[in-house]
Amino acid sequence: MKRIRKAVIPAAGLGTRVLPATKSMPKEMLPIVDKPAIQYIVEEAAASGIEEILIITNRGKGLLEDHFDRAPELEERLRGDPEKASVLEEVVKISRLADIFYVRQKETRGLGHAISCAKAFVGDEPFAVLYGDDVILGEDPVCAQLIRAYEEFGLGTVGVKEVSREAIRKYSSLKLEPLRDNLFHCTDMIEKPKVGQEFSLYSILGRCVLPPEIFDILEATLPGAGGEIQLTDAMRTLAAEKGMIAVDFFGKRYDMGNKLGIMQASVETALRHPEIGEEFRAYLKQLSKTL
Ligand code: UTP
Repeated sequence: MKRIRKAVIPAAGLGTRVLPATKSMPKEMLPIVDKPAIQYIVEEAAASGIEEILIITNRGKGLLEDHFDRAPELEERLRGDPEKASVLEEVVKISRLADIFYVRQKETRGLGHAISCAKAFVGDEPFAVLYGDDVILGEDPVCAQLIRAYEEFGLGTVGVKEVSREAIRKYSSLKLEPLRDNLFHCTDMIEKPKVGQEFSLYSILGRCVLPPEIFDILEATLPGAGGEIQLTDAMRTLAAEKGMIAVDFFGKRYDMGNKLGIMQASVETALRHPEIGEEFRAYLKQLSKTL
């Protein structure tokens, strides 16, 4: 089987839940303390052995491209200040994480449609998908956890977590049978289930590894929930025809597509931050007394 070395990051949603911040800037560029969300995601892909990444964009493409590019003027300024040596290293490192390509999704027709824009980039290899607004932090990169499952079983693989009965309406619901440990066999799924339609409370959150056959399936996939071409509907066909593997992944997921998720990511990351962690903890303890 071909080694998985390509990843696609869809980042062309409208981000309507985080307006007005996302009026001209993609939500994927929102910072968690001092790093934009998408950098955490590119770092996760690189740490999982991914060499080439395609970012699907629409507006704010320039911002994204600039972030992963060299910045000669800024670097020159930092180079002149010995105290900024580590920041300089940080800044240069970003441009070396992976080979990054960009394509525009010309109309916002859904996640499935966004992924179909990656067909030429992917070719006939299996590939990873990392949703641009789902930051997952942990010791073992989730993308690598999924790649290992794909390589073991040779089947499309999705990252899943159990969510609440209220939350499942916004996500997907999967029909699963236990395989071993945190692995399941998946034979069916539904996007944004209505009451009574759910198979389980397991939902796909942010990561999958797919075979190239998904592109033919996507071409035949009609608009689904919300009038959008849903990746879940295409994966449903894959699950029904061949089966898929679901990995109840290890890692803490933050939804950068909603305001509460952004605040949780920021607060928890700030508490662990080597530079401001201690001071922030003291501030938060003080503040909590007034709540
Ligand atoms: P979401 O459904 O969370 O994105 O898609 P959205 O459209 O920005 O959400 P609202 O407007 O706040 O409800 C999940 C991922 O798929 C990408 C998004 O950028 C996000 O990373 N996406 C979604 C696309 O790339 N294209 C689309 O047409 C839709």
